[in-house]
Amino acid sequence: MTVRIPLPGKDTPGRVLVVDDVEANRDMVGDCMELASHEVRLANGADTALEAMRGWEPDVILLDVMMPHVNGLQLCRRLKSDPLTAALPVLLMTAMNDRKLRVLGIEAGANDFLVKPLDPHEVAMRVRNAIRSKRLYDSMKRAHEDLRRLEALRDAMAHMVVHDLRSPLMSIGLCLEAIRSGAQAGDLSLIAEDATACIGITTTLTEMIGTILDVSRLEAEAMPIEPGSWDVAAIIEDGVARVREGARSPISVHSGPVVVVWDRCLVARAIANLVSNALKHSGGKPVEVRCVDHGPDVEIQIDDAGPGVPEESRERIFEKFGSLGTGSDKRNATGLGLHFCKHVARAHGGSIGVSRIDPTGARFWMRMPRLAVSPADRTGVGSTPV
Ligand SMILES: Nc1ncnc2c1ncn2[C@@H]1O[C@H](COP(=O)(O)OP(=O)(O)OP(=O)(O)O)[C@@H](O)[C@H]1O
Ligand SMILES: [Mg+2]
Repeated sequence: MTVRIPLPGKDTPGRVLVVDDVEANRDMVGDCMELASHEVRLANGADTALEAMRGWEPDVILLDVMMPHVNGLQLCRRLKSDPLTAALPVLLMTAMNDRKLRVLGIEAGANDFLVKPLDPHEVAMRVRNAIRSKRLYDSMKRAHEDLRRLEALRDAMAHMVVHDLRSPLMSIGLCLEAIRSGAQAGDLSLIAEDATACIGITTTLTEMIGTILDVSRLEAEAMPIEPGSWDVAAIIEDGVARVREGARSPISVHSGPVVVVWDRCLVARAIANLVSNALKHSGGKPVEVRCVDHGPDVEIQIDDAGPGVPEESRERIFEKFGSLGTGSDKRNATGLGLHFCKHVARAHGGSIGVSRIDPTGARFWMRMPRLAVSPADRTGVGSTPV
């Protein structure tokens, strides 16, 4: 996933706090800021300024230096020493073009100076620049937080991979030992049986690794879809065929001929994930797969009669490792299945969600445009029946 830093707009209006003990000055600067479409708050001293900042974060402070009680330099020092407000640009307003006062202001951490009598145009330009710097700082801060979150996810993923790949690898080791014993005993049927088990585990392992790679590529938008014209019934059949073998519940498919332009392989794998989940949770009761034609959109529904998904978890399960710790078989589970499905739906310009079915059960649905479109600004996850 790429972390993008949006550049601030050309003349973004911002939130401006004007602090001056002289009412006429405050109002003059305030009017000038309002004229430039900024949201303005006025304060007559340090205490009222701090009060104004409670629950309202300005983008810039215009601060008079000469004020009774706590002067502008003291307030500036205080703001700059607090990590929460240190990045807030402070523009000191001073009556004198006094070098000593400027040096004191710089020492206090002020970002810029406005010399009285103020020139409205100059003030507007300096405020605009300060807002731009603040916005850039905010964007970089958000990007940094995103990176840290991604780093934590990557660590979790590495941990999960190491942990979850260990048990199938151990099983492969055991199978190979059994094959060696079979070879020593000349027992061909034992060798064939263990080799088959070995192949099965290797297939599962390969699929797990494939899912991990696909999720990374889809997140990085580095996996373009390859849409082709297909009958949905054929795509569903592909998906169901991947999980039908050994299924503990009957799977019934209801789909008439509906032509779509989708990536057959990706959608079939998403359907396989959804049906495999339904099988895990249905407790042996039938699983139904259906295609509903909504005109420009086509929806695939997978219903099971299991315990369903609690409302508060219906967004979370689509996140990476969003497992709720339910289901009868947690072996070889990456917790990436639904996350993968979400990306497949998004890559087609569609969405995915889960709803409840009566009297008990879950309906997972993927709704995508008949003609796959690039995802514009859709969120990709829904939680209400469609
Ligand atoms: N049909 C369902 N009924 C109830 N809960 C479900 C159902 N499908 C998924 N879930 C819940 O959502 C979680 C996430 O599912 P997901 O497919 O992403 O991971 P997984 O099934 O645990 O692992 P994997 O897909 O890698 O085998 C599951 O662990 C389960 O808690
Ligand atoms: Mg799953």
